[in-house]
Amino acid sequence: MRPSPPAVDQNPPRSERGGLLLYSLAEFREIILECLDLVGGRSVVEIGGEDGTFTAELLSWAAARDGRVSCIDPTPSKGLVDLVETSEVGELHRCISLEALPAMPPSDVYLVDGDHNYFTLLHELEAIEAISGPAFPLVFIHDVGWPSGRRDMYYSPETLPAEAVHPYDYGRGAVIGSSDLVETGFRGEGEFAWAEAEGGPANGVLTAVEQFLADRPQLKLQVVPCVFGLGVVYPSDAPWADAVGALVRTYEEIPLLERLEQNRLDLYLHVLALQRAQFEQGLHVRDVEVENRGLWARVHELEAEMAGLSQRSQQLAVEVATTVAARSFNIAELLSRLHTRGSDKPGISAARMRSLAEPLLPGAPPDSSTASPAP
Ligand SMILES: C[S@@+](CC[C@H](N)C(=O)[O-])C[C@H]1O[C@@H](n2cnc3c(N)ncnc32)[C@H](O)[C@@H]1O
Repeated sequence: MRPSPPAVDQNPPRSERGGLLLYSLAEFREIILECLDLVGGRSVVEIGGEDGTFTAELLSWAAARDGRVSCIDPTPSKGLVDLVETSEVGELHRCISLEALPAMPPSDVYLVDGDHNYFTLLHELEAIEAISGPAFPLVFIHDVGWPSGRRDMYYSPETLPAEAVHPYDYGRGAVIGSSDLVETGFRGEGEFAWAEAEGGPANGVLTAVEQFLADRPQLKLQVVPCVFGLGVVYPSDAPWADAVGALVRTYEEIPLLERLEQNRLDLYLHVLALQRAQFEQGLHVRDVEVENRGLWARVHELEAEMAGLSQRSQQLAVEVATTVAARSFNIAELLSRLHTRGSDKPGISAARMRSLAEPLLPGAPPDSSTASPAP
């Protein structure tokens, strides 16, 4: 089951990520749009339109050539819906690719950028082949590089046959060099899940493409090794094959691109790790603040208790002094009787002595006989 997105995003939201991280097919515009013209294409299918970032450019391209753009996305953004609905050359299929493709007419070019997993890719390529007849079209496949190249990701694993889905995780993220997922890394934030392990059979986009090509020697694969990797698949005997091949090769054979991609991914993962650390530090500070507030409340309680104790100790001092005085009066009365025994002088009673001494005891009201007279 897809969990609800976490309460606090630990990765930047999609929009911010978009700004920080290049990930759209639009980054390949110079290659893709030129190839569309080399092919002499008029119709394009984009699988996975998302926010319409590249769809907008495809629509402009098609509008200038009397062409057509079909976009397939089960959960298009409002921006994509508005974009396609206001275009005279676009159409939107709001369903998954494997439902939409078999009912669609053949197209000159396909951009495959939807659910990045082995089962979906393999069946998308088979569906494209089935509707295209003898002339396999030009197909661009995004995400043949890290992280989806050898690890399935699932937008909606429930739409796939259970046996085609590897154990997956919506919470943890992928990092370079580790088959296992980790707490940080490139995470789906509830939007998509990763297969728990990287590599092995029937796992990942590139694995699916290789599987599809294994029985089809007439098809060629070239890879532009940046922005998550762009695969370009086409029949090597197509009239436009040499021109497309030469154009793609100028991007394919630049080792610098591979190094830049590696560096960009390293830096992005580093940023994610720092954001995670900052998030955890924020939680720690919040815990300390809560504890601090609790401690201050306890200090105030203890201060109130101490004030009560101090009042009680003053009362006790008075009681002790009173008790001691009472015993003293009794002893004094006894001494007085002993002193006057045999004489006709009466002794002083304890009560009398108390009435004389009480005004002098601690806590006694001021002596009215010594107070200033009322005006
Ligand atoms: C990486 S985004 C596409 C980005 C877009 N092509 C671009 O270059 O700007 C993937 C999109 O594929 C959609 N998607 C997921 N599963 C799909 C499927 N089975 N068929 C078609 N689209 C799918 C998602 O809703 C999401 O919008």
